[in-house]
Amino acid sequence: MDVPGYALVTGAGSPFGIGTACALAFAQEGAAGVAILDINAEGLEATKAEIAKVTRDVPCQVLAYALNITDEAEVTRVVHDVATRFGRLDYVVNAAGIAIKHPGGSAFAKTEDWNRVLDINLNGTFYVLRAAAAIMLEQEPIKSSIDGRPLQRGSIINFSSIQGVVGITLSTAYTTAKHAVIGLTRTASEDYAARGLRVNAICPGYTETPMTTKNPEVLKAMEERVESAVPMKRMGAPREIADGVLYLAGGRSSFVTGSALVVDGGYTSR
Ligand SMILES: NC(=O)c1ccc[n+]([C@@H]2O[C@H](COP(=O)([O-])OP(=O)(O)OC[C@H]3O[C@@H](n4cnc5c(N)ncnc54)[C@H](O)[C@@H]3O)[C@@H](O)[C@H]2O)c1
Repeated sequence: MDVPGYALVTGAGSPFGIGTACALAFAQEGAAGVAILDINAEGLEATKAEIAKVTRDVPCQVLAYALNITDEAEVTRVVHDVATRFGRLDYVVNAAGIAIKHPGGSAFAKTEDWNRVLDINLNGTFYVLRAAAAIMLEQEPIKSSIDGRPLQRGSIINFSSIQGVVGITLSTAYTTAKHAVIGLTRTASEDYAARGLRVNAICPGYTETPMTTKNPEVLKAMEERVESAVPMKRMGAPREIADGVLYLAGGRSSFVTGSALVVDGGYTSR
C-alpha cells in the first residue's frame, strides 16, 4: 500500500473497531511506526499485542497513549511527543468517535448529548489535525516507496461517515458533526495543498464494529436497514474501511486532497 512512514491513529483501542483495523493495516503494510491513541487504556494494550502478532518479521515501532481526545492541551502534547520519538509524522488518522441516537429526534435532543458528540467527533478531530499539520508542514516530503515520486509532507485522514453526506433519522448531533468534519477537511486541504500536505475524509457506511453491534436493538434495526437500503446487502468489515484509509494515506493517492471517499456498499448512490 506504499505507507513506509510513521502513522498516528486515534480511536485505536477498540477491539474489532475501525481505528484498530487501521493501526494493524499500517503495521502489516510496512509502516515504520504506529502511534495508537484512545481513551481506553486496556484496549490499547490489546491493539499493541495484535500489532506484535501481525508484524513478527517486519519491525514496526508501536507507541501507545491513553488520552481523552477532547483534552486540547494533552492532544497537542501527545502529537508532539509522537513526532519527537518517531522523528517525523507521515500519516494521521482521526478515527476516535462516538454515536448517540436522540429519541424523538432533533426537537428533543439534549444539549448535553449534542455537546458530547460535537466535542469528541469534531473538536477532537480538529485538535489532532491542528497539532499534526503544524508539525508536518515543517518536515521534508517523503517519497513514494514504489516509484519515487515526490510524495507528500504528510497525509491526514479524518473520519466522517455516510452521515457526513446524507441525513439519517434521530442522529442530530452525529450527522451535524460528520458533515462538519468534511468541511474541516476541505478548508484544511485548501490551506496546504500547494505545500504537499494532503487532507482527506473517509465516509464509511454501516460497518460491523462495537459501535454498531454492542446494542442488540440498534444492531437489529441496522440489519433491517442494511437489507433494504444497502445495495450490497451487507455491513462492511473494519478492514475494508482501513484499506480506504491506507489508500488515502499513502503514495497511490498522491494527487488526491480535499476528497471525501465513500466506502459504503453503495448506500449513498441511491
Ligand atoms: N461503525 C460504523 O458503522 C461507522 C460508520 C461510519 C463512520 N464511523 C466512524 O468510524 C470511526 C470509528 O468507529 P468504530 O465503528 O470503530 O467505533 P468504536 O466504538 O469501535 O471505536 C471508537 C473508538 O473511539 C474511542 N473514543 C471514544 N471517545 C473517545 C475520546 N473522548 N477520546 C479518545 N478516544 C475516544 C473509543 O474508546 C473507541 O476505541 C468513528 O469516527 C465513527 O464515527 C463508523
